[in-house]
This record gives sequence, C-alpha cells and structure tokens, in this order.
Amino acid sequence: MRRDNIDEIRKLFIGLDNKIVINGKKQIIPINFDNAATTPVLKKVMRAVLKASENYGSIARGDGQKSQYSSDLYEECRRYVIDYFNAPLNKYTAIFVSNTTEGINKLSNILIENKDDIVITSRMEHHSNDLPWRDKCDLKYIEVDEKGRIIMEELEEMFNIYKERIKYVTITGASNVSGYITDIRKVAKLAHKYGAKVIIDGAQLVPHREVNMCGEEDDDYIDFLIFSAHKVYAPFGSGAIIGLRDEIEKYPPDTKGGGTVERVLDDHLIWLSTPEKNEAGSPNFFGAVALMQALKEMNKIGLGLIENNEKKLLKMLIDGMKNFPRVIMYGDNENIEDRLGIMVFNIDRLGYEMVGEYLASIRGIAVRQGGFCAHPYTRRLLGIKSDEIEEYIARNGMPGMVRVSLGAYNSEKEVNIFLETIEYICKKCL
Ligand SMILES: Cc1ncc(COP(=O)(O)O)c(C=O)c1O
Repeated sequence: MRRDNIDEIRKLFIGLDNKIVINGKKQIIPINFDNAATTPVLKKVMRAVLKASENYGSIARGDGQKSQYSSDLYEECRRYVIDYFNAPLNKYTAIFVSNTTEGINKLSNILIENKDDIVITSRMEHHSNDLPWRDKCDLKYIEVDEKGRIIMEELEEMFNIYKERIKYVTITGASNVSGYITDIRKVAKLAHKYGAKVIIDGAQLVPHREVNMCGEEDDDYIDFLIFSAHKVYAPFGSGAIIGLRDEIEKYPPDTKGGGTVERVLDDHLIWLSTPEKNEAGSPNFFGAVALMQALKEMNKIGLGLIENNEKKLLKMLIDGMKNFPRVIMYGDNENIEDRLGIMVFNIDRLGYEMVGEYLASIRGIAVRQGGFCAHPYTRRLLGIKSDEIEEYIARNGMPGMVRVSLGAYNSEKEVNIFLETIEYICKKCL
C-alpha cells in the first residue's frame, strides 16, 4: 500500500481530528508539531494490542496455551524488529527495553569493562547518549561547527591519536534539536578500521529514515542501534536495542533476576544466552506487539513517502519563517538536505516559553520549548560560550529555543496555519 495523499495517512492515526477547547470555548482541531518528543497512536497498533490481549498469558513461563501463544508472539515481534532493520537473524539480536534512555544505559552498563576504555561521542547528543557514559569510561567528545554539524575530521583525528584504544563510538543518528542526520556509514567505516564498535542512538532517525544495520559495504555495518517505540506511533512503553549477538553474549547482564538464568545454585549461577539474560523480569509484551505493528505500518506508508513529505514541509516552514524579521532560526537553513523535519527558532524580545504558550493558547499548536534534553548542544547553537553560560543563566534564565518537529501525518495546511500564527505573534506580542 502506497499512500500519496496526506489525508489518507492521517486516517491511520487515532485522535488527530479530535477538537480541543481553547480558552474554555472555541473548539479547534489542534496541530501536533512535537513529534520528536512523542507521537500519536496508529489505529492498527491499538487493534493489534487489543487482539493480542484476547489470548494473553505469561511470557516464556508456562505451558498453558495462552502462555504459549503470547510467548510465540513475543518472539515473532523480536524477529520482526531485527528483520525490519535488515539485520541478519543469525548475527543480531533484539533486546526489548522501555525506551532509548534505558537501552543506552543498559549498553553503557554492559559494555564498559574499565574506566580507561575510550568512548567517543559528540556534542550534538541528547542527554540520554551523553550522561550514561560520563562516569563509566574515558569519554571524549567531537565538536560541532558553527552551524551545529558534527565535525567529522575531529573523529578522524581521535582515531589517529588513540587508535585501537577507542572501544566505542556512540553517536546520534539524527539530532533532536537541529534535525541534522549523522553520516553513520562514515562513522562506522572509520570505527571498524580501528577495531572500535558503533552505537547509534536511533531515537530520531528511526521514525524518519530507513536504517540498514548491514550497511552497503563490508565495513559500514552498525553494531548497535537503540530506539523508542513511542516515537514511532506505538506508545506502550517499549523500545529496543538491536545488536550483535556475539558481542552482547560476552558480557554479564546489568539487571539481574527472574528470566535471566538457566540455573541458580547456592553459590553460583549460569546465565541464559542473550536476549533472555538481558531482559530481566516479566517482559513488556504489549509494548513489543505495539512496536512490531507500528513498524509494519511504517513500512506500508513507506519511509520514502515520509521523507519526501517532511522535506517539503520543512522547506515551507523555513521559507515562511524567513519572512518574519523577528524570527531567529538556528542551524543551517540554506542547505537543508541533511536535516529531518525539525526546525528550531526564537522570536526576538519574546521568551521561548511565551512563544510555546502563545502557539498553544492562540491556535492549539503543540511545539516544544527549552533545551530539549541537549543542553550542551543547545548552548552551542545559540552561540553562548562555555565560560559565559553561568552569567547568561543568571541574567536570562536557562537558554533555550522553540522546536517544531514533524511527523508522518503533518500537512501543508498545518504548516500554513502555523506560519499565520507566528506572523500574528510577531505582530501582536511584545
Ligand atoms: C536523540 C534522542 N536520543 C534519546 C532520546 C531519549 O528517548 P526516550 O525518552 O524515549 O528514552 C531522545 C528523546 O527525545 C532523543 O531525541
């Protein structure tokens, strides 16, 4: 099924056209431009969850028919998720987690053996791919340039200096602030040349682009990918790590308990293999079902279609915003080829909190405002130097901006309404 008409795509989601109340009276269909944070639910996801609930039983713990049915379905979800990313089942596994944050924490707990292990990350990261590594290893950052793009030459330099001492490069597939897409193939090639492994934070990339774990050549495969289901239209508290089975197998699990062991004796134990040993406790069965169904729906809509629609809308947004002298946009707004449908801005003489509030109260438009859980990156995009930050905060409060982030179902009509509302705010609100 290929759906070229955005109205048809909108029908796949729950609640998009439900009216909301503004100022206690006016009924209006809201606009959700906060998809980088979380996304609405696909109808088929709810249906799949409801259907699975009819035969729900304990996972991998019982011989009852419902338990068998649920266990089989849970494993089917795992296989589907691996396959979705073109990862060979004999090499990769999927570990279900509750979200990207948990997945990255898990990897940082499992993979790092000693504090001297060098891990490279970037200054473009979400806190969830920065903080979990900070206290565990020798974490080094590659900088971003004045437009906010990762400086790839710095990664090359790091490998020239530290060579095989670098164990992992953990980097975002795409920024949740600027929308820049990382050249993950280039990162992978370079890392593998020096025997390092690559971890991709796929929270933003997976909802918008196809991710091929195998890559296109021998050395540009991805070792680990983590993403969240609630950002791909399946908000049931799940996510997954797709990773090289043999790699994960080498290490003991970080979370221990039921479901992780083959045998426990008084004084020693034998772990099960991965993924079981890495999924302690009763699993989130409905989260896995929801995730599989959402990925199936993404396939049906077509990642190409999602990409094209977002690119068109991003261009409209940027071109439109350029007409308003009070609007300050961040990042590279001329060459937008390597950006997801994300745009960040401020309005001169108006705090970002106020812009968010006005958009909601005037026209029911949901955006996100603040530092987007990426404070080091947001500061850089705003051009605030590291040694100026305390003074800046004392004078102005936390630095931030307003973010528009698009989903598969957003339309030209919504972009036009947004631009009209921004024009109104620029004229009327001081
Ligand atoms: C790039 C990136 N990484 C990680 C996360 C964390 O995702 P979650 O809150 O689902 O754990 C986010 C959330 O916005 C993100 O944008």
